[in-house]
Order: sequence, then C-alpha cells, then structure tokens
Amino acid sequence: MLLCALASAFASLLALVTAHGGAMHYIIDGEVYTGNWDDLNNTDGSIQRQWNWGAVSKLDDPYLACGNNGVPHANSYYAPIVAGNTITANYSFDTVSESLGRPWTFGHPYGPMLAYMAACPEEGCESVDLNAPIWFKVWEAGLLSGTWAKGYWAMKDVFEGAELDISTPTSLKPGKYILRHEMLNLQTGPAQWFPNCIQLEVSGSGDSLPSTGELVAFPGAYDKDLEKSFTISGGSPWFYVTHGSETVSQTPPVLLITVTDLVKAYPMPGPAVWQG
Ligand SMILES: *[C@@H]1O[C@H](CO)[C@@H](O)[C@H](O)[C@H]1NC(C)=O
Ligand SMILES: *[C@@H]1O[C@H](CO)[C@@H](O)[C@H](O)[C@H]1NC(C)=O
Repeated sequence: MLLCALASAFASLLALVTAHGGAMHYIIDGEVYTGNWDDLNNTDGSIQRQWNWGAVSKLDDPYLACGNNGVPHANSYYAPIVAGNTITANYSFDTVSESLGRPWTFGHPYGPMLAYMAACPEEGCESVDLNAPIWFKVWEAGLLSGTWAKGYWAMKDVFEGAELDISTPTSLKPGKYILRHEMLNLQTGPAQWFPNCIQLEVSGSGDSLPSTGELVAFPGAYDKDLEKSFTISGGSPWFYVTHGSETVSQTPPVLLITVTDLVKAYPMPGPAVWQG
C-alpha cells in the first residue's frame, strides 16, 4: 500500500517535473540554502517562499508574485548577502533521471528569465503585500541568438543543468529584501510563469533605493508591457512558441506565422533593469 502510494506520488512528481520546475537550492555568499518546495510543513525555516509545481498562466493571478502560495515557511529567515554579489539558483535534482540520462532540471529551454527585488520594512518581509508595487528589476537574460522558435535562449543552459547566476545591485541600501526570480516559458501555449521568491539580508556600503516611479507590481507589471511589445498585428498581445514546429501562435485569435517572419530580437518583459 505504502509502496504503491509512493510509486504513484513519484510518477505524478515526474510528470510535473518533466513539464515544469523551480529552484531546488541556492548558493549565496558561500552558503547553501535548500528550496523547500516539497516540505510545506517544514518548521526548520527556509529563506524560500512556498511554491508548487503548477505554472502561473494568467497575468492577473496573484501567485504571479511568488508562486503558489508564496507564503513564508514557519521560522522563515534571511540569507545574508553583500550588495553586488551573485545569487546562484540550482534547478536540478540530486538523482539522475533514467529517461534524461541526467538529473531533472527546469523543464523548458525557450523563454526569458528575470529577477526582481523588493525592499521590506525593518521588521521583515513576512507580512509584505507581495502584490503591491514594490518590485524593481535587477537582472534578466533572454534570447542570445537566432529566432524565438529556434534560437538559443539563456534558459537552455538551465534546462541542460547549468546553475542560474543572478546579479544584485552593488549600490543597494542594506536591509531586508525579497528576491523574486522567474522563468517565463514560451514553449507551451499559453505562456507560463514560474516565479520563486527568497528572503535576503543585504549588507554593504551602498545607499540607493529605486524611486517609487521605478517600482512595479505583480500582477500588473506585464499587462502594459505585453501590449506594447508583443503585438504583431493587433488582437491579443500574447505569443508563444510551438516547440517542434516553426510557428508562433497569437491567441486569440490564433495567428500562425512562419519562423522566417519572426523578429530576431525578443523584447524583455517588464521595466528596465534598475541601474542603482
Ligand atoms: C502538512 O500537514 C497537513 C496537516 O497536518 C497535512 O494534511 C498535509 O498532508 C501535510 N503536508 C505535507 C506535504 O506533509
Ligand atoms: C546542482 O545541484 C545538483 C543537485 O545537488 C548537483 O548534482 C549539480 O551538480 C548542481 N549543478 C551545478 C552546475 O553545480
């Protein structure tokens, strides 16, 4: 009975992992922090907000901020980091998958990856309204070469097992912050967002914070931007790449165009990276 339940839990996990993913652990200023995706009753604490394997596929979904359900674990804490240092997110499992011949990683190679931060009050980030206009972009990586459907996206490296290195602003004022990093999967329509959030305690000699006008909200940040940047010929500004065929769809209404028609540049969603 137990074996059976375990086997079926593992099978459904594999199905989810094949399709999706999230950060399994982080390396921050030399320390390793577990991403507690599978232990929602964990009371040892975690820097990571709770998340599940489901994609966020609606731009008005409150879980666009930090995933489902985005709440802090009991005894949540903060990873110390010196402003300007790099946060490494590892999306891989420890075990090698038989079908892949390598560990499971993030399940998609097409789409941009973005990271944002939000300053928290002195008492901490735990009760911050994640859907408020508090976020500023600190890092992004998109299409490195080629076209949307056939090009080389930075995400492909993570799909193949590389760690994700997220830089932070050197001039950032010390204090408590949430870092929100996301994968935007364009491979399966409609587009899918996979946000993860962690809590940081930033130190350093910087004194900068973005102005209110430079902050965006999730949901909110992407509606306008998608309208502005992604429309080819009217209709819904929502595009996705159909993997394995040379088409990009716009829906609704569905518009199929050949890959030769595609612009080579991919406009990154959201605001510009805050320069500090
Ligand atoms: C967490 O605890 C609740 C309540 O005891 C239980 O129903 C649930 O199955 C637990 N979840 C996990 C992932 O262990
Ligand atoms: C990421 O973590 C996995 C699991 O611990 C490990 O096997 C893998 O080597 C790590 N990836 C890199 C690029 O270090």
